[in-house]
Amino acid sequence: MIWEKVLEKFKELYGEGGDIGVYFAPGRVNMIGEHTDYNGGHVFPCALTIGTYGAARRRDDKKLRFFSMNFSHLGVIESSIEDLKPEKEAGWTNYPKGVIWAFGEKGMKAEHGMDLVLFGNIPNGSGLSSSASVEVLTGFILKDLFGFEVSNQDLALIGQYSENRFNGVNCGIMDQFAIAMGKEGHAIFLDTATLKYDYAPIRLENAKIVISCSNKKRGLGDSKYNERRSECESALAQIGEAIGINTLGDLTEEQFEKYKAAIGDEVLRKRAKHAVYENQRTIKAVEALKKNDVARFGELMNASHVSLRDDYEVTGVELDTLVEEAWKVDGVIGSRMTGAGFGGCTVSIVKDEAVDAFIDKVGAAYREKIGYAADFYVVEIGAGPVKLA
Ligand code: GLA
Repeated sequence: MIWEKVLEKFKELYGEGGDIGVYFAPGRVNMIGEHTDYNGGHVFPCALTIGTYGAARRRDDKKLRFFSMNFSHLGVIESSIEDLKPEKEAGWTNYPKGVIWAFGEKGMKAEHGMDLVLFGNIPNGSGLSSSASVEVLTGFILKDLFGFEVSNQDLALIGQYSENRFNGVNCGIMDQFAIAMGKEGHAIFLDTATLKYDYAPIRLENAKIVISCSNKKRGLGDSKYNERRSECESALAQIGEAIGINTLGDLTEEQFEKYKAAIGDEVLRKRAKHAVYENQRTIKAVEALKKNDVARFGELMNASHVSLRDDYEVTGVELDTLVEEAWKVDGVIGSRMTGAGFGGCTVSIVKDEAVDAFIDKVGAAYREKIGYAADFYVVEIGAGPVKLA
């Protein structure tokens, strides 16, 4: 079992004794509703059974000790709860540090330090939210070690707050929410304007969810993510004035077409078009799924990719190759990029009997065109954070 290895590592590094908790928080994949969460729109992500494992023990002093089995060459990184600031050299530890800091900002200051060992089986920087997984996991651990009274939804909001304020990435709520609120076998239909949500069962009779990882690394902070966000804000300022709305998610396609001329710049108009149409597509996709119309859901996934490629311009040759090659394979119901884009992964719904051919054909075409291999994962939809031991 993975968690036993994490516990073993913990004891080896920090010694036995005391109350050592072992925890897990998932990664997430978004089925549809991309770049809508900071535009007051809907998203439809699900938690995965892959994620981040952590072993932790409260300390008597103020010290923090961090170790990641994914970055073992960095060794144990030390810090203190009295000295929490983002540091480039601190690498991955900026995520747990950010969450400890954010708890303090929200009136839940930890009075003691802790020792922590993490291990993640989500490929890093792949767009499956390894960082949000670490954030939610850290919050879940703090709650357990220090007795803070927070709901899973609070953990999502605190995780996002830490990512925005401590790590400088202006992300929306989708990733942390999907992870903190995950439910086995279900995706979450979340209205990001109100945080109202519904669980929708994903019943893919005779089909699987396949994630294709481009292996093009991407850090949200250095991507064009923040730029897209401010483009949407500018577009909203212009069209919002014309029609009196608060978010792009308030608009139907018809309203957008009627008022789009209020957005003077063509690029900004395309960005806003994506935000509006993608939100409406997400609503339609969930309706289709409720009627068991997986084929329609797949068509909407494909349309989502086209919009992200042509109007939002967040795909790139790697993701486009994975998706366009996937569309050619018989038995592919739908395929699109997932997450922020600019690298990372695609998500496809593939009929059971076509999965092997999918991996062979898309893999070969990708290697041929891009020059290195993609990785493929047939994934299961998992639950939110848990304490394992
Ligand atoms: C990243 C962000 C999310 C969301 C997606 C795009 O994953 O963290 O908040 O904006 O990109 O849909």
